[in-house]
Amino acid sequence: MADMSVKIAGVAFSNPVIAASGVFGFGREYARMYPLEKLGGISCKGTTLEPREGNPAPRIAETPCGMLNSVGLQNPGVDAFIRDSLPWLRKQGTVIISNIAGKTVEDMCEVAEKLSDTDVDMIELNISCPNVKEGGVAFGTTCSGAAEATAQVRKHCKKPLIVKLSPNVTDITEIARAVEAEGADALSLINTLTGMRIDVNTRRPILRNNTGGLSGAAVFPIAVRMVWQVYNTVKLPIIGMGGIYSGRDAAEMMLAGAAAVQVGAAVITNPYAPVQIASELEQYLDGHGIAAASELTGGVQPW
Ligand code: FUM
Repeated sequence: MADMSVKIAGVAFSNPVIAASGVFGFGREYARMYPLEKLGGISCKGTTLEPREGNPAPRIAETPCGMLNSVGLQNPGVDAFIRDSLPWLRKQGTVIISNIAGKTVEDMCEVAEKLSDTDVDMIELNISCPNVKEGGVAFGTTCSGAAEATAQVRKHCKKPLIVKLSPNVTDITEIARAVEAEGADALSLINTLTGMRIDVNTRRPILRNNTGGLSGAAVFPIAVRMVWQVYNTVKLPIIGMGGIYSGRDAAEMMLAGAAAVQVGAAVITNPYAPVQIASELEQYLDGHGIAAASELTGGVQPW
C-alpha cells in the first residue's frame, strides 16, 4: 500500500486530501456521515474578527460544470469559533486549518493573534474572497496588497501560515513571489473566479450580490495551470484546489506541483467526495506502483 502521508510546512497530514474552506463549515454535519480522521485535514469556513451574516440570498447559482457562490463570509466570528467549534474539532483526529479573513489588515492580524494562542494546526490567510465589499480579494489582486497583508499577519501569526491566492489576476506567479518574500510558509490556490449569471426573464442577476465566485469542474484546467506555474516560480509547498472530483484529478493536481489538495465544490453534491477521492488516489498510486503520494508532486514532464 502506498504511503499517503504528506508534510506541509512541518505539519504532518495522514493523506493529502483536505476539505476546502467554505463547503465544510466547521465539520459537524459531516462527522455524522464518516469519521473526520479519514480526511487529511479540514480548512474551516473563513473566520473574521466579528460575526458576519453573509450576503442576502440567493447566494448560490448553478452553472454548467460548476457553481457560483456569493456567501459573503458568513461565520460566527473568531471568538465563537475558538469557544464552540475548536475544542470539538481538535478531537476529530485530523489537521485543523483555520481560514481567516478581514475587512482590514488590522482585523486579520487580530484574528491571527487570537488563533496563535489556540491549538489550530495552521492558518490559511484568505486574501482572495471575491464576494465582500471590504477586504477579501482586494488584498489579493496586487503584489503590494498581498505582500502587505502577508507581512503584517506574519508578525502576529505563530502558526504555519498558508496564503490563499486569487486566480482573478493577470499573473499569479508575481503574487506568489510577493507573498513568499513576506514570510508565507505555504500557498493554497486557486480561490474562485469571479462570474455572473442573469435571469433572462426578470433581467436580474441570479445572485443577489450580482456576481459570485465560480468553482467546480469548469475551473479545474485553470487551477492545474496556475499550480504548475506557481510551482515553477516559488519554493513554497502548494495546496492545489479548484474542481477536483476524483482521485485522478487529485493526482493530476499533484503532478502539476501540489503537495496536497483541497476538495470544495464536489462536496456540495457528494458529501463523501473527499474520502472517496483519498481512496481513489491510493488506488491510483498502488495501480501505478508509486510508493508514496509525495512522489507525485511536480512530476509532470512538460513537452
Ligand atoms: O463568499 C464567501 O464566503 C466565499 C469566500 C471565499 O471564496 O473565500
